[in-house]
Amino acid sequence: MNQAANSTAEPELVPPGPSGLPVVGNLLQARSSSSMQRQMELWRTYGDIVHLKVGPMHIYTLYSPEYVNHVLVKNQKNYIKGIGYDGFRLLVGQGLVTSDGDLWRHQRRLMQPSFTPAAITQFSTMMVDLTHRMLVRWDAFAEQGTPLVMDAEMLRLTMSIIGQAMFGIDLGEELTEVGHALESVFGFIPGRTANPLAPPLSLPLPAHRQFRSDMQIIEAFIAERIADGHRNPDQNTLLALLLQARDEETGQPMSDKQLRDEVVTLFFAGFETTARSLTWGWYLLAKHPEVQERLADEAQQVLGGRHPQVSDLFALTYTRQVIDEVLRIYPPTALLARQNINADEIGGYPIPPKSMIVLAPYCVHRYPGIWSDPERFDPDRFSAEAAAERPKAAYIPFAAGPRVCLGNNFALQEMAYAFAMAAARFRVEIVGEREIPFEVVGTIRPLKPLRVRLHKR
Ligand code: HEM
Repeated sequence: MNQAANSTAEPELVPPGPSGLPVVGNLLQARSSSSMQRQMELWRTYGDIVHLKVGPMHIYTLYSPEYVNHVLVKNQKNYIKGIGYDGFRLLVGQGLVTSDGDLWRHQRRLMQPSFTPAAITQFSTMMVDLTHRMLVRWDAFAEQGTPLVMDAEMLRLTMSIIGQAMFGIDLGEELTEVGHALESVFGFIPGRTANPLAPPLSLPLPAHRQFRSDMQIIEAFIAERIADGHRNPDQNTLLALLLQARDEETGQPMSDKQLRDEVVTLFFAGFETTARSLTWGWYLLAKHPEVQERLADEAQQVLGGRHPQVSDLFALTYTRQVIDEVLRIYPPTALLARQNINADEIGGYPIPPKSMIVLAPYCVHRYPGIWSDPERFDPDRFSAEAAAERPKAAYIPFAAGPRVCLGNNFALQEMAYAFAMAAARFRVEIVGEREIPFEVVGTIRPLKPLRVRLHKR
């Protein structure tokens, strides 16, 4: 349910921001808003709330923990996902990430029990096994001194894990047709969403034809998985849990259409975000050998050469600190979008109804006075003592409030196993390019591949 359309009301007072052109306003600035360098410049120049206008639409970008917290937590009832997610709806329909209102509340209640820390431990052995299989494959690279492209490895690992969790099928290992189609649409959709001038999909362009053909493969695969789930309801998969979920009041299951939207959503939300975080993690670890050694020491001490279990996660405290710091520097969803239903006020400025609100976790994670020397990679920022002194709102890689990431426990567990197991077995060194720039297209994506050499410990 999209309660907000374009903003039309004219506010009496607007926050500072760059001046725009007649008619199109700040269209050019809005187009470059996915550049974090540009966001940092806007923030430094104009302050914690910046105003842009594109056509009739007012856009407010919020950079401070306080303002972002206002939208995500304090006054969250006034905010919906709105038009900022229209591009993603082409792929995921009305799944949990893109739905609003009663549909979202209903679906969140149904799905939440499958993602509690206790519930996701059922995937622990599978995550460890798939990670181990990857590391065994890496042995040959280490022995021969052949460089490895980390981005591809991490995408393959997380696709394998989410595929197994959802359907009990490994989509990553064999790089199946559907795996390719998923990768391809994940490349296409975010770029389209970030581009306000994207041509309509009805135009017969090669990229549009490719998208349609990829979607046919994905739809056929998911329809078959759902049919199989109905035939064999006792599988140990997320799909089986979703099939079993019943509305508390009516006792009704989800419709197949809603199931399809939730399945694609979980894929979309869970696969690339985690892969990017792991890749950026290896990038930072390779550039900071002292942190990598401390991580390896902890993993070797806690695991003593055996496979990790859920109970080890409590002892892998430095591993968790590394993950937290990676997600601070490179929050996969560096920008989030909302629309306000009714008028609001932020930082003393009136916000007319149906404005577009952009939240910048990337900048919140660098907020002065909270994060000193913010570009420095320092996992000790996340020691229990240091973390206790910080406002919670200053760290939001999984967002906050009722729409906090449903899969955060899943992702944290998957990442802890990957970092601990790989660091215990290999030392990772960058080959060639040491500076890797990024762009934010849905997630925070590296613009060059991360090539590494592995050294067996
Ligand atoms: C490092 C990995 C991940 C990060 C950083 C991350 C981050 C986020 C963020 C910031 C949101 C809020 C988006 C918004 O408000 O617009 C979100 C929502 C969501 N995430 Fe994640 N995510 C990760 C992994 C996962 C995984 C592995 C899954 C599932 C298996 C998942 C499922 C979801 C779902 C279903 C939502 C929508 C929740 C709702 O609106 O009720 N995420 N995620």
